[in-house]
Amino acid sequence: MPSPLATVAPLRFSPAYEHPDAEEAQTLADINEQMHRIQEKTYADGGKAIRSVHAKSHGLLAGELRIPANLPPELAQGIFARPGTLPVVMRLSTTPGDILPDDISTPRAMSIKIIGVEGERLPGTEGDVTQDFVMVEGPAFNKPDARSFAKNLKLLASTTDKAEGAKQALSAALRGLEKAVEAVGGKSATLTALGGHPETNPLGETYYTQVPVLFGEYFGKICVRPASPSLKALFKEPVDLRHKPDGLREAVAAYFEEQGGEWELCVQLCTDLGEMPIEDASVVWDEELSPYVPVARIVMGAQASWSDARARSIDEGLAFSPWHGVAAHRPLGGVMRVRKGAYEAAQRFRADKNQRALSEPKAIGDIGL
Ligand code: HEM
Repeated sequence: MPSPLATVAPLRFSPAYEHPDAEEAQTLADINEQMHRIQEKTYADGGKAIRSVHAKSHGLLAGELRIPANLPPELAQGIFARPGTLPVVMRLSTTPGDILPDDISTPRAMSIKIIGVEGERLPGTEGDVTQDFVMVEGPAFNKPDARSFAKNLKLLASTTDKAEGAKQALSAALRGLEKAVEAVGGKSATLTALGGHPETNPLGETYYTQVPVLFGEYFGKICVRPASPSLKALFKEPVDLRHKPDGLREAVAAYFEEQGGEWELCVQLCTDLGEMPIEDASVVWDEELSPYVPVARIVMGAQASWSDARARSIDEGLAFSPWHGVAAHRPLGGVMRVRKGAYEAAQRFRADKNQRALSEPKAIGDIGL
C-alpha cells in the first residue's frame, strides 16, 4: 500500500473538541420513543422483533480483513497498529424499519464486525473482541445533530406499516422527483429516504461512517469502498426490481455465486476542525483537504450471500453498533453519543421479545454460519 499521507498533517484529538449538549438525554428519550413505536408495529405485524431501522438485509457475508504491515505512523493507529488477518462479517441493508419490497427504493447501508481485535474496550463492551463500523452511503449524515434527526424520525415512524401499495407508488414518484433534483445538481435526503433512491446494486456503493471516530491519537471518518474491478463496475448499476420484492438480495447473491470481491477500508483524518467539525454531522469533510486513504482490505470469497440460516445467525443473532469496539476508535460527537443508548434500547427490545441474547462473538465459529 502506498504512503498517501505525505502531504496531510492530521490533527491530534483533544477532548476539548467535543461539546455535549444539555438536551441530549431528552433527545435520546424522544428517539427511543419513536424507535420503540416502529418496533412495536412491526412486531405486532410479523410476530418477530426486528431492527427499528435497517430491518431488511440484502447480503450477509463472511470473509477477512487484512491489515498491512507497512502503514505509516499516522495510519498505524488503533486496531490498524497491528498487522494481520482477522475474520469479518458484513451486513448489507436498506434504511426502513419495516421489511418492504425492494422497489420501494431507499438508501443502502453496510455494517461490518471485525472479530479478534485487541486493546482497551469502550464502556459496556469489556471482555469483547469485536470492532464494528456501521455505515451508510454518502459522506455525511442528513441532519446536523441528533435533535433534528429526532424530528425527522417522527415522519418515518408514522409511515411504518402503512399500505405497501401506497408506498410503492410513492417510491416510484419520488424516484422521478429525485432524478429531477439530481438533474439540477442536487440530492434530497428526505426524498431518497422515503423511497426516491435510484434502483441500483448495493455492491457498487461506497459506505461511510458519516460521523467521526477516534483514530488512535487522531480522529476521522471511515469508509469502505469497492476495490476489485468487478465491484467497481457495479457503481450505479441498475437492478430491475419490478415484481422482485427481494431483487436486491438476488442481485447480491448472483454476484457472489460466481466470484469474490475486495473492498478498501479507508480513513479520512481530520486536519482542520473548522472545516471538518465533530459536532455538525451534516458537513461533508473536503477530500481535497484530506483524502480517504486505505488502511486495510476486506476480502470476501464467492459464497451464498443470503440464506434463512444466515439471517437467523446474523440478522437475528447479532447486533452492530458504533459503540462495539476499542477505546482507540471511540465514536465522537452528539449524533454518536445519542446512538449509544438508541442502539442499546432497540437491541434490548429484539433480545427480550425474541428471547434470544445478542452476544458478541469471540471467534467466527460462534456465529454459526
Ligand atoms: C442519531 C442518529 C442515529 C440513531 C438514533 C440511530 C439509531 C439506530 C438504531 C436504533 C438501529 C437499530 C439497532 C438494532 O436493533 O440492532 C440502527 C441501525 C443502523 N444504523 Fe443507525 N442511528 C443513527 C445514525 C446512524 C448513522 C450516522 C449511520 C451511518 C452512517 C447509521 C447506520 C445504521 C445502520 C447501517 C444500521 C443497521 C445495523 C445492522 O446492520 O445491524 N445510523 N440505527
